[in-house]
Amino acid sequence: MTALTLSTAAASGLRADAIVVGVAKGAKGPVVAPGAEAVDKAYDGKLAAVLETLGASGGEGEVTKLPAPSGFKAPVVLAVGLGPVPEKDEAYDAEALRRAAGAAARALAGAKKAAFALPVEDSGDAGAIAEGALLGAYSFDAYKESAEDGNTKNGKAPLAEIALLGAKPRDKAFKAAVERALAVTEELNRARDLVNTPPNDLTPEAFAAVASAAAKEHGIKVQILDEKALVKGGFGGILGVGAGSEAPPRLVKLSYTSSKADKHLAFVGKGITYDSGGISLKPAGHNETMKCDMAGAAAVFAAVVAAARLGLKVNVTGWLALAENMPSGSATRPGDVLRMYSGKTVEVLNTDAEGRLVLADAIAKASEETPDAIVDVATLTGAMMLALGNRTFGIMANDDAFRTSIHEVAEEVGEPSWPMPLPSDLRKGMDSATADIANMGERMGGGLVAGLFLQEFVGEGITWAHLDIAGPAFNEGGASGYTPKGGTGSAVRTLVRLAERTADGDLG
Ligand code: BES
Ligand code: MN
Ligand code: ZN
Repeated sequence: MTALTLSTAAASGLRADAIVVGVAKGAKGPVVAPGAEAVDKAYDGKLAAVLETLGASGGEGEVTKLPAPSGFKAPVVLAVGLGPVPEKDEAYDAEALRRAAGAAARALAGAKKAAFALPVEDSGDAGAIAEGALLGAYSFDAYKESAEDGNTKNGKAPLAEIALLGAKPRDKAFKAAVERALAVTEELNRARDLVNTPPNDLTPEAFAAVASAAAKEHGIKVQILDEKALVKGGFGGILGVGAGSEAPPRLVKLSYTSSKADKHLAFVGKGITYDSGGISLKPAGHNETMKCDMAGAAAVFAAVVAAARLGLKVNVTGWLALAENMPSGSATRPGDVLRMYSGKTVEVLNTDAEGRLVLADAIAKASEETPDAIVDVATLTGAMMLALGNRTFGIMANDDAFRTSIHEVAEEVGEPSWPMPLPSDLRKGMDSATADIANMGERMGGGLVAGLFLQEFVGEGITWAHLDIAGPAFNEGGASGYTPKGGTGSAVRTLVRLAERTADGDLG
């Protein structure tokens, strides 16, 4: 875990492996960003010219390392690109700072300590830089051979210590911003770890144990329904999906309550620890990354713990619907009918449309407490990836204003998302000759069909939104900004900010 402190020290005197400065893309070449004045001065004001000679442009995420000026205790200056210079009288936006800090922290893997001298105008900027740096410093090496001298066999240990310069260490708002960044990024990074953990180790039972331990540590009430309790409770959806696996399913309830709360949010996460497709088996090439199919549950878990650590004045209940979707002699068959927790019957036409089955039970259960809103998070459909790509999640809801609010909240924290409709004419495609509804409908608009299926299980009169994070949850490409390869922690920051804004009572 990377440590982070606010510092008023001068860059020249700091004992560190590197000083990070910002460089922006100007009309006539690179421009040194505010925060790096002293560093630039030590280069006789020639930092921008040196960077240009080295081929730097100030483009987003670009990293250039150069020897530090004489007299500096740190040996290296790392210039990180911030993208275009802001318009006159405008500051660097938080997302540009977050991404640059992330790229710099990642480029410094293997180093012990770095000082960040990026532009800081207010506590929000300090929070963004802290968040970006702590997320960018992430690495997952639990399964690499043993570490020696801080270096793993195949990679480098993450940057260990960060000093943020230009911030006000004794200012309340700055302190709070950094505390918040530490809590949110620690939980988000833990969600990434869960997503990256191989499915032979992260069974539903193992996931439930991790959630339970963390929840207890932070005063969150935990309730775990095991396979026996699920049978007793009539959770036909969760049981039906888990039926083919040697590793039995779980439904985990995490309750964070605040004595000062007057609102209650319920977050529901899809937690398929491995999605083989079941009897409707996925072909080779489509199942290698399916350990990521519990990313929704990981995001919900992280958000509830973060809400508790921040002491938010809102009640947040997290529901983790955990099962492994496997083919076997005991697996649910295409053609089977499941009796769901809500009492509805579902004809399973395709066992690979399993996420909606576990979510339907959890949403129906969550509805019993009549929360002010339910938000489910799921790697639900390949169709949403075709629609929105690999970095943007889709938002569907039974309430236009709530969908808009979530879109705004996501934008505020720097998570790309887009509102999607729930066209009612797609409902008839799920009509079943045998049961109340089928778990599949028209192929076209498959992401919306899945949303319409879930909507059927939302309690009467409850505001509900569905985030399909199939695209952004798992990064199969290279790392960029503060986003690593593999598990990304998608939707965690949106859920946390939604809880904060609900607590503050400023949600539309
Ligand atoms: N977990 C998958 C969706 C997915 C695909 C997530 C790729 C991340 C990357 C989901 O359970 C699934 O298999 N959905 C099917 C539904 C179809 C059978 C109606 C799909 O999208 O193909
Ligand atoms: Mn599936
Ligand atoms: Zn799935």
